[in-house]
Amino acid sequence: MNLNHIREQFPTLKQKVHDKELVYLDSAATTLKPQCVIDRLTKYYSDEVSNVHRGIHFLSSQATDYFEDARRTVQNFIGAQSDQEIIFTSGTTESINLIANSFGKQYLNEGDEIIVSTMEHHSNLVPWQEIAKVTGAKIIECPITDSGEIEIERYKELLNEKTKIVSICHISNTLGTINPISEMISLAHDHDAYFVVDAAQSIAHTQIDVKNLDCDFLVFSGHKAFAPTGIGVLYGKLDLLNTLPPYQTGGGMIEKVEISNSTFLNAPERFEAGTPHIAGAIVLKTALDFITSIGFEAIAEHENELIQYGNERLNELKDVNIIGTAKSKIAVFSMSVDGVHPHDMGMILDQQGIAVRTGHHCTGPLMSRFNVPATTRASFSLYNNKNDIDALITGIEKALKLFKD
Ligand code: ALA
Repeated sequence: MNLNHIREQFPTLKQKVHDKELVYLDSAATTLKPQCVIDRLTKYYSDEVSNVHRGIHFLSSQATDYFEDARRTVQNFIGAQSDQEIIFTSGTTESINLIANSFGKQYLNEGDEIIVSTMEHHSNLVPWQEIAKVTGAKIIECPITDSGEIEIERYKELLNEKTKIVSICHISNTLGTINPISEMISLAHDHDAYFVVDAAQSIAHTQIDVKNLDCDFLVFSGHKAFAPTGIGVLYGKLDLLNTLPPYQTGGGMIEKVEISNSTFLNAPERFEAGTPHIAGAIVLKTALDFITSIGFEAIAEHENELIQYGNERLNELKDVNIIGTAKSKIAVFSMSVDGVHPHDMGMILDQQGIAVRTGHHCTGPLMSRFNVPATTRASFSLYNNKNDIDALITGIEKALKLFKD
């Protein structure tokens, strides 16, 4: 992987922030966008703009072709059996709300159990809480170890005949832990439970094959994988999707409409009411093609170097405690730094042009588990290099000096 060539493709990296070279360490929140993605978005809005599935004129048919081609690209990218299993949504949050409301309405009953883990993002927790209130189902927490890994033996004990659904992140946004989802899915299926994979953080870091995983649903957002915000995906097994009621209703998803009743199309249209984010889907294809052109092997190799170097350098600082030290993880470093509040740390780093995220990272239960109100999180992507880690270390040292001397 030619890192300099990759960095050149991200125009945001060419700018200065507070008169310093930008060091972007917030890719778990959203990735920067390569020039090919920006150009494709501009091309749609300059030359190709039109609605899909609605007109027979040239521009509408062309937009429909590109839109459906994007669906096939997503299908191939995650190894789905059929393009009908790919539903475009606004992102991970909408995808999970869709499953919780549609699947929840259909399948959850009083006393059923929904297993989530301590490390879930609020978007993979709150929708389940809300549907549990309506259906009488219960949320069951699968605990994690001090290093931030799923307690797999406890998970096995929690699974029982009441477990209806397990919804777990593939990779934790706060800890970087890569969860053993293949094993977890197979264990859930032994108990006839359905499994939702929150792939928001994994989609740009590791190869996903939904057929091999055999997950029932998988969700992700485009913007964490070099695409624009506002576009995301829900994958579901086709037979299952076609048993579910729509989440939203309106144009584009109906079969027949009479004044007091309507019937609905099958997936994916059943779940895509209204005009979709056409440009978003088309550009998502460009973003996924960009990842494919680099390849997950090269991405993992680069990321492992960053993890190793990051660990080495951060461990030199005795006041820095890394939260999330799983054996299997991506380059995400959540830290608590003795004597410096994360928000102060974030501000001092920002003054040096270093973008990190501070706060609870939408993982409240995880903050309670580690007994911290917030952390400073540096998260890396394929455009980061070792200089970025050096800059982070210098920045932290500066903050320590300011607050501790
Ligand atoms: N989920 C995003 C993050 O972890 C916003 O920062």
